[in-house]
Amino acid sequence: MTDTTPEPHGLTRGLTNYGDMDFARYLRLSMARSMGLSGNLLKKPVVGIAATYSEFNNCHRLVPELVAAVKRGVLAAGGLPLEFPTISLGEVFLNPTSLFFRNLMAMDTEEMVRGQPMDAVVLVGGCDKTVPAQLMGAVSANVPAIQVVTGPMMTGRWRGERLGACTDCRRFWAKFRAGEIDAETIEEVEGNLATTAGTCAVMGTASTMASLAEALGMMLPGTAAIPAVHADRIRAAEASGAAAMMLATKKLRPDQIITEKSVENALRVLLAIGGSTNAIIHLTAIAGRAGITVDLNRLNELSDTTPVLVDLKPTGPFYMEDLHVAGGIGAVLRELKPLLHLDVMTVSGETLGERLAAEPGYVDHSVVRKLEEPLQPEGGLVALFGSLAPRGAILKRAAADPKLFEKEARAVVFTSLEDLAARIDSPDLDVTADDFLVLQNAGPLSPSGMPEAGYLPIPGKLARAGVKDMVRISDARMSGTAYGTIVLHVSPDAASGGPLGLVRNGDRIRLSVKNRRIDLLVEEAELARRRTEMGDAGPARPKRGYARLYKDQVLQADEGCDLDFLRAEPQRD
Ligand code: FES
Repeated sequence: MTDTTPEPHGLTRGLTNYGDMDFARYLRLSMARSMGLSGNLLKKPVVGIAATYSEFNNCHRLVPELVAAVKRGVLAAGGLPLEFPTISLGEVFLNPTSLFFRNLMAMDTEEMVRGQPMDAVVLVGGCDKTVPAQLMGAVSANVPAIQVVTGPMMTGRWRGERLGACTDCRRFWAKFRAGEIDAETIEEVEGNLATTAGTCAVMGTASTMASLAEALGMMLPGTAAIPAVHADRIRAAEASGAAAMMLATKKLRPDQIITEKSVENALRVLLAIGGSTNAIIHLTAIAGRAGITVDLNRLNELSDTTPVLVDLKPTGPFYMEDLHVAGGIGAVLRELKPLLHLDVMTVSGETLGERLAAEPGYVDHSVVRKLEEPLQPEGGLVALFGSLAPRGAILKRAAADPKLFEKEARAVVFTSLEDLAARIDSPDLDVTADDFLVLQNAGPLSPSGMPEAGYLPIPGKLARAGVKDMVRISDARMSGTAYGTIVLHVSPDAASGGPLGLVRNGDRIRLSVKNRRIDLLVEEAELARRRTEMGDAGPARPKRGYARLYKDQVLQADEGCDLDFLRAEPQRD
């Protein structure tokens, strides 16, 4: 006999277990009534709203307004919206680094989405690590989900100049370090860099992850680049609430949207927008939750065949608000159309091909170039391999100086962030503009938890002499708003015994971007001697708490720095 019992939905899903399901249903509805909800509403499908407002997160200042709009959209579509809080990660307010907490937020999101009764979830995030954390959690929970981002800040004006966080933050800080501006001026700049709510105004990590969320199909078309304070941002949130109801009805889940093909589309978009290096780590982690491997060799193949089309800071002159009025990520996708998989599903309920066929064609080609007239013929990011990085390293060539791409030089080594801070500006530092600066012990397994320290400052005496760029190599990350000839994410990292930890002052290193190589030119016998001399004393294992879990489980950068036990098994044919 066929079971005709209706599938539980709304508040009757996933009942608390008291050993009596009818009692559990009765008790839950009784408690829900205490919130003033009508009996009629309690029968509706439930859309959870993962809200991340925090006074430790400037980028999320307008989350309450977005949540209110999402609720309107859900109610109008006949559902019951229920907001719940999760961890919020404000990039500049966390110690040791927000990446350290990304996986904790992903766990929080996954467990609360799975553990609470909801038919779909709207994820409201924005700052660098919150969007990847929410997507990682949503993929693992595999409940119908849609992403809403807080949107980028607007730029401000200062002494006739247009300023936006945070490429301009770095530009002015470099001037201050070089003695070109004084303390009073830098303080004035500080007050004019970030003047509205929202995420950093350039193609940094937050903007890149918003763009990739749309490219993956997890966000409504045209919503990645809308500024935080624009009325369209609120309308996008309302529309996302309505879309969540559609996802709940169709049972369209993240595993139908995040596939090998949509991840490859996202990689193409990442390369075409000259996006943040951090996005490689985050996309690898998101894909890993779906059992999909992001192979750095494949990244290089895609990079060779994907031109850079978008001219935003930190590499170009424009900001995210310009990308929005130029046509947004839709314009980028339309230009890239011949290179994309068009049969992938999106949260709008249509395929990418259907979406692009239906969209208007306006593009401002000064901001989003034509495919046949790109800014650069090849992608903005490239993976390097070699004896210094057996499992890979990343260089953002779009933000680097090509004159430094084929070069052999002497290593000037800093053994930790503390060592870097203590010596980088010392007049006695033995360094020239021709050297390679090497930072060790700033990778995922280091006590610093892979901070955005890969943008090593130019040593003070060289900065004052006018040196603007040098090759810098580390196992750290770099802010998406930074620029320079910077080799990052060297894997395995120094703290896990990788060759980066064996480099000594004066060693020769060869960089060849053309050959995708980075090699330490030291005999294997000498490296073996150094390895023995160092022993296997890595950083101490934390005694308790999340830090202990992180230390025991965190993966290297080429595996997305996720926790090992949270990844899905790789997909099989
Ligand atoms: Fe949040 Fe830059 S500090 S996006």
